[in-house]
Amino acid sequence: MYKFLKDSKLCDPKFLFGVATASYQIEGATSVDERCPSIWDTFCAKPGAVYKQHNGDVACDHYHLYQDDVNLIASLGMGAYRLSIAWPRIIKFDGSINQKGLDFYDRVISALEEKNLTIMATLYHWDLPQYLDDEGGWLNRETAYKYAEYVEVVSSYFGDRIDFYATLNEPWCSAFHGYRDGKHAPGITDDRSAFLASHNLLLAHGLAVPILRKNAPSSKHGIVLNFTPAYPANESAKDVADFADEYNHWFIKPIMEGEYPESVYQHYIDVMPTIEDGDMGIINAKIDFLGVNNYSRGVIDQDGQYPNYKEVHLSDVERTHIGWEVYPEGLLKLLTDLNQTYQLPPIYITENGAAVDDQVVDGAVEDEQRCRYYQNHLSSVDQAIRKGVDIRGYFAWSLMDNFEWAEGYKMRFGIVYVDYKTQKRIPKRSALWFKEFLDSRQQ
Ligand code: FCB
Repeated sequence: MYKFLKDSKLCDPKFLFGVATASYQIEGATSVDERCPSIWDTFCAKPGAVYKQHNGDVACDHYHLYQDDVNLIASLGMGAYRLSIAWPRIIKFDGSINQKGLDFYDRVISALEEKNLTIMATLYHWDLPQYLDDEGGWLNRETAYKYAEYVEVVSSYFGDRIDFYATLNEPWCSAFHGYRDGKHAPGITDDRSAFLASHNLLLAHGLAVPILRKNAPSSKHGIVLNFTPAYPANESAKDVADFADEYNHWFIKPIMEGEYPESVYQHYIDVMPTIEDGDMGIINAKIDFLGVNNYSRGVIDQDGQYPNYKEVHLSDVERTHIGWEVYPEGLLKLLTDLNQTYQLPPIYITENGAAVDDQVVDGAVEDEQRCRYYQNHLSSVDQAIRKGVDIRGYFAWSLMDNFEWAEGYKMRFGIVYVDYKTQKRIPKRSALWFKEFLDSRQQ
């Protein structure tokens, strides 16, 4: 079944396999232990913002069921877990520390340690405290400094117990979905705001790195970025596809080289934020790993005058339930291109996975499409390694079905099924596939 992996690095038990989740998507317990509201609580309450006005109030109730979930991760043969820490649980609106929030993550981390799981913690997976949004959120430069204070609290508390610290998850989505197309919290639709938010997010990242190094000197520090490689729909769309692809570099280029991608920067020069002296140097802080999230590709066509473009929807291709094209070759190209373009630290695939309209039949979930998706994408990872890309680990998105942002609970990305009425977890065929493969590596 996984013969494509023969003599592959993926079969070496040192190659890390894990599952990923994020706080707001799984924890629930939003008004427990003095957690502050986040921008997602506010956004979910806005009519029309989220599918059927779903919200994260209960989610997978991981806040209470974390011990079972950690046992589940270990039982699947996984070696690692990528979780996120919720800022609104840690810092109260008056700036004081919420010990109960730290205690919760302490319990989770202890449970993971007990199972010898490698821990990757994302420090910001989109749940900005609402009290900071009230002061402008990511449009306020001060938020980057507030973030640095929060990172100081978390990293001085947990130190090296967390093996990998990721500063931000997909700042591209925070900036461009949060402030440009309004699909995500806080739901703003404005180019100028999106670029300003992106700069402040990058600044937050850059300010955090030295703090993490000081407080957790033997941990690895990096960031998780999303990439959707752009492909031209036809010969004449090549230039616009190249331009669209520059967006994939909007975060990685300043981090690796201290500069924004020139063509996008120039095109949007009228709405670019002021870059203060020293900012690009802060953003260019050395990182120890790059987290790569990838799900699909974008097929790009012209839309009037260069560089205007649109994404086209090819009709005769395979798609997942959420509508994203299944295109594993895109992951291979992405990884080899990134490797050629930058002097990168080791890469971890921090998210990859598929939404499937799963059904429970006789107590089991046969998610054949997801199994194929994982095998074909892992095959791309394998090929990329064979082509010289230094990839050290792979995290499936996600451990279990959860609150999928604007799509609510409609989209199921888990390798474990969640029955939201009973909170029962049912490992799907894909989870059993991972287990079988991971167990075989130990022999
Ligand atoms: C990514 C997010 C993650 C999840 C997947 C499907 O953009 O980081 O939280 O929603 O998409």
